[in-house]
Amino acid sequence: MTDGPLILDGREVSRETRGGLARQAAEFTSRYGRKPGLAVIIVGDDTASQIYVRQKAKACSDVGFHSRVDTLPVDTSQESLLARIAALNAGDSFDGILVQLPLPPHISEEAVIEAISPAKDVDGFHPVNVGNLLLDKPGFVPCTPLGIMTMLSFYDIDPSGMEAVVIGRSHIVGKPVAVLLLRKNATVTICHSRTAALAEHTRRADLVVAAVGKRGLLTAEMVKPGAVVVDVGMNRLEGKKVVGDVDFEGLLSVAGAITPVPGGVGPMTITMLLSNTLLAARLAQGESAQAP
Ligand code: GUN
Repeated sequence: MTDGPLILDGREVSRETRGGLARQAAEFTSRYGRKPGLAVIIVGDDTASQIYVRQKAKACSDVGFHSRVDTLPVDTSQESLLARIAALNAGDSFDGILVQLPLPPHISEEAVIEAISPAKDVDGFHPVNVGNLLLDKPGFVPCTPLGIMTMLSFYDIDPSGMEAVVIGRSHIVGKPVAVLLLRKNATVTICHSRTAALAEHTRRADLVVAAVGKRGLLTAEMVKPGAVVVDVGMNRLEGKKVVGDVDFEGLLSVAGAITPVPGGVGPMTITMLLSNTLLAARLAQGESAQAP
C-alpha cells in the first residue's frame, strides 16, 4: 500500500466543532442575556484530574461559556458533596454539573452520579440518561462515545452494515459506543477481558474501537485490511509520553482509517462536554433542542 490510512484528526474535528459551538454560544448569549454555564467539582489533588479539569474550564471560556471549578479537600464528606450538588441542581447559574472522577474511596461514585439532576448531567452518566440512550430517546450521551461518533460522521464514515467490534465494556466508553454504533445500524460485538479469541473477532471487523487502557492490545495481524480503527486508550509511559491501545505504527500499513494518540479521540471528549453543556442550556431555556 502506498498512501497509508486516512488519519482521523481529533484536533481538526474539535477545532471545527468548537468554532460552531462558539457561534451558537454567542447567539444563545445574545438571545437570553446569559452565557451557558458549567460547574465542575473536583475532590482531592490528583494531578491528572486537575489537568483535565483545567482543560475543561479553559475550553468553556474559549467558546464563550462561563464555568466554575470547585476544588474540595480530599477528606470532604459524601454528605457535603451531595449538598453542593443539590444546591447546583436547584440554582439556575449553571446548566451542566460535572463531578470529576475518580472520587476518593470514602465517597460513592454511584451516589454522586445519581444525585446530579439528569437535566444537568452533561457527562451522561445518570441512570436516567443511560436508559434514554438504550431506548433511543433524547438525553445526554457520554462525551467520549459522542466524540467518536462525531469524528466518524465528520469523515463521512457510515457504520451502517459494518461489522463493528468494541473492545472494552466500561459504562463510560465501551457500552455506550456499542449502543451508538448499533443505532447507526452496525452489527456490534463487544469484546472484553474474558473474550476467548479476541483476534478472531477483530479480524472480521470493518470498524474496531479499542477502549481498554492496555498498550499493544490491537496489532496489525489482528486487523482486516482497510478497517477503521478508533483508539480510545490513553496509556502514560515513563517519561510522560502517552500511547493508545493500538500499535499505530504497525497499523499504518493495514488500516483504512485510524485515530492517532494523542490527537485523536482525546480532544473530542472535551468538545462534546461543551456540546452537552450548550444542549443543557437550551433545554433549560425551554428550547426543544434535539439531543444526539
Ligand atoms: N474522569 C475521567 N474522564 C472523565 C469524564 O469524562 N467525566 C468525569 N466526570 N470524570 C472523568
